[in-house]
Amino acid sequence: MSAQAPLSGAQERDAADPLRGFRARFALPRDERSEPLVYLCGHSLGLLPLAARDIVNEELDEWAQRGVEGHEQARRPWVPYHQNLTSGLMALTGSLGDEVVAMNSLSVNLHLMLASFYRPAGQRTRILIEAGAFASDRHAAASQIAWHGLDPQDTLLELSTPAGEELLPEEHIDECLERHGEQIALVLWPGVQFRTGQAFDLARIARAAHRHDCIVGFDLAHSIGNTPLTLHGSDADFAVWCSYKYLNGGPGAIGGCFLHQRHLHSLPGSAHRGTLPGARLAGWWGHEQATRFLMEPQFRAAEGVAAWQISNPPILAAAPLIASLAIFTEAGMQRLRAKSVALTDYLDSLLRPLSPAVHILTPADSRRRGCQLSLRIAGDAARGRRVFDGLTARGVVCDWRFPDIIRVAPVPLYNRFEDAWRFADALTQALRETC
Ligand SMILES: Cc1ncc(COP(=O)(O)O)c(C=O)c1O
Repeated sequence: MSAQAPLSGAQERDAADPLRGFRARFALPRDERSEPLVYLCGHSLGLLPLAARDIVNEELDEWAQRGVEGHEQARRPWVPYHQNLTSGLMALTGSLGDEVVAMNSLSVNLHLMLASFYRPAGQRTRILIEAGAFASDRHAAASQIAWHGLDPQDTLLELSTPAGEELLPEEHIDECLERHGEQIALVLWPGVQFRTGQAFDLARIARAAHRHDCIVGFDLAHSIGNTPLTLHGSDADFAVWCSYKYLNGGPGAIGGCFLHQRHLHSLPGSAHRGTLPGARLAGWWGHEQATRFLMEPQFRAAEGVAAWQISNPPILAAAPLIASLAIFTEAGMQRLRAKSVALTDYLDSLLRPLSPAVHILTPADSRRRGCQLSLRIAGDAARGRRVFDGLTARGVVCDWRFPDIIRVAPVPLYNRFEDAWRFADALTQALRETC
C-alpha cells in the first residue's frame, strides 16, 4: 500500500493544512511507550480540549472558595450557566438564540421533546423512524407510544432500506410519507446514521414531513460538530444531541436541544395540531430566571427553549464544552468542513483499492456523509473482528459495531492526513495476517 500512496503524500497535505495547529490543543491518548495512538474515534468520544481542564478547575476553585455563593458570584455564575454555551451552539446548529439550549443528555431531551410534540389523536398516531435506529431512540419512541396507551407493535413505523441495499434513499422517506402520512404524527430521523455514516438532507425531510402535517425532529448525535447544520432554515420542529462525540464535551457531557421559534409561544394543546407542540413538562429551571427563587406556585416560562429545562445544569459536565465551543468558533465550521471533506476523501481514496477485502458502506459522495467511514471486512463477522483486533494491536483506536462494522472517523480538529495513512497501512497489515 505504501508503494501506491507514500506517507510523504499525507505529510505534504498536513503541512499545507491551515487548521493543523488545532491538534496541539487536544490531549492525544498514548500507548504504554507514550507514543500517540492513531485516534479515529471522535464519532464515539471526542478528545479532551486542553483548555477544558482549566475551566473545570476554575469551577472547582469557585466551589471551594465560595460555596453556595458561586451560583450568583462565580466568575461565570452558575445560575445562568447554560448561556455560556448558547452562541457556540447557535453557530453549530444554525439556530436563533432562543431556539437552542444546553441541558440534560440526549435521550432525556428526546423524551422531553416527544412529550411536547407527540400528540397522537384520531388516526394520526404513528411515529416514523428508520429500521435499525440507535437503540435509545427506538426505546424512546416505543415507550412514548406505550405511555399514550398505544401498542408500539402497530404504531411504531420503521422504514427499512430497499431490499439488498444498505443505505436509505431520501425518496424512500418521501414515498413512505405519501403512503402513510395521514397516520404519522411525528417523524424522528438522524442527521447522520450512526452505523452507516450516511448523512441526510434534513431540509428535504422536514419539507416532506410538513407536507403531510407531521412533526419532524432530528437526532444530531452524529451530526453536530461534524456536518454544517441550518436547523432554523431547514424548518425542523425540534432536534436533540449529545456533546461527547464531535463536540468534545467529555464523557457524560451536557446535551442540547433545538426547538423552532414558531413553537416557542404556542399554547399547550391536548391533541396533534399540525405544527404546534403540546404540553411542556416543567421544572423550576424552566421558570423565568428573574422570579424563579420566589418559588411561586404559578409557572412562568423562561424565554425560548430554555423553558424546557427542568433541573439546574450540571456545571462540571458543562464546563469542558465552553472550552470546546471556543475552539469551534476560532476554527470556523466552514473551514472544518472543508478539511473534513478533504480528509475523509483522502482516507476513502486509500481504502477503495482494498476492495473487495474491504467494503465501504458509507456513501462515496461527500455531500452524503460526514467524516465517518463504516467498513465491512469480506468473509464473516469473526474475520472482521480479528481485523479490528489487529488494528487495535497496531495502536489504532476506532470502534466495532455489532454485528460486523468497523467505524472510523478522521476528525478535522485533531486528526491529520498522516493518521488516515497510518490507518490504511495498519488495515492492510491486519488484513494480510487474517486472510
Ligand atoms: C444516535 C444516538 N442516539 C442516542 C444516543 C444516546 O445518548 P445519551 O446516552 O446521551 O442519551 C447516542 C449515544 O451515543 C447516539 O449515538
